[in-house]
Amino acid sequence: MSSNQVPGGDVEQDPCLSFAAGKGIRGEEELPVTRINAEKKLTRRNFLKKGILAAAGLFVLGLPGYSFFVEKNQLEINRIRISSPRLPVSFKGMKIVQISDLHFGFFYGPEQLQTLVDQVRSLHPDLFCFTGDLIDRRFSRGEAIKVSDLLKQIDAPYRKFAILGNHDYWGDTALVKDCLTSAGFRLLINEWTLVKKGNDVISVSGLDDLLNGKPDHSKVFNDARFDLDLFHLMLVHEPDFAKVISSDPVDLQLSGHSHGGQINLPFFGPLFTPPLSRKFSSGLYQINERLTLYTNRGIGTTILPFRFACRPEITVIELG
Ligand SMILES: [Fe+2]
Repeated sequence: MSSNQVPGGDVEQDPCLSFAAGKGIRGEEELPVTRINAEKKLTRRNFLKKGILAAAGLFVLGLPGYSFFVEKNQLEINRIRISSPRLPVSFKGMKIVQISDLHFGFFYGPEQLQTLVDQVRSLHPDLFCFTGDLIDRRFSRGEAIKVSDLLKQIDAPYRKFAILGNHDYWGDTALVKDCLTSAGFRLLINEWTLVKKGNDVISVSGLDDLLNGKPDHSKVFNDARFDLDLFHLMLVHEPDFAKVISSDPVDLQLSGHSHGGQINLPFFGPLFTPPLSRKFSSGLYQINERLTLYTNRGIGTTILPFRFACRPEITVIELG
């Protein structure tokens, strides 16, 4: 036992406290040791109590700051691989990049969009998809030109496709359409087209928004020219529509709309998921033998400008 160990205990005797208690530096009596222990236990208890209170305070006060300043600007890149017997060999390895729900407006401006565009460009997409909600509410002509110029910087050799979301109908929808088409997107509203690579083709279609548009998927599937046996990629803003088209010839549905709930609370899950995104709120779902759904968590925010445990997302889909 060393000179400053307390018999029967694991607390070191503080010579300075013993001296202050009038027992001398080498005092061996029980009293100062007991007092020292009591003071130390009290200090430790107080420390723990204050620490817990401070942590709780920091959590409550820091959460909005973290959710506003940090997480909503932390882009996450999620990579998935989609296979299908209908996929032509020449399309294997093709890289589709998807973004969704920009919600350009008060809480998402040109600087953030430039960062996103740079990130997408660095991924070198073969085919690029935007799955709706370009704006949150308001969109001036000047903003539309700026957004269009930024999105124009994204190149994709096998084209850029876009659909409208529910928020795109809240403002000047014609301006949103102009913005997307002048940025080089083929806007698909209850339409389909072919993507060709050599002698091979796949079909790509897009549905009008389910909540505020006039969706009509029969315009795709009932078109006599539409080949039911081709690999078919369908863009639908609201993910829960996958249940409706599960019996239709669709191999891959790409959606957004949910924002993944935006705020994911421990033991509770997503705080708010909008209508038609509650069944399939984020990630990959195998709906049936043919149809795979991917719900992207989106880029921007709506209602509350926060994200917690729900980072904004770019999805990279490799066909294989
Ligand atoms: Fe949205």
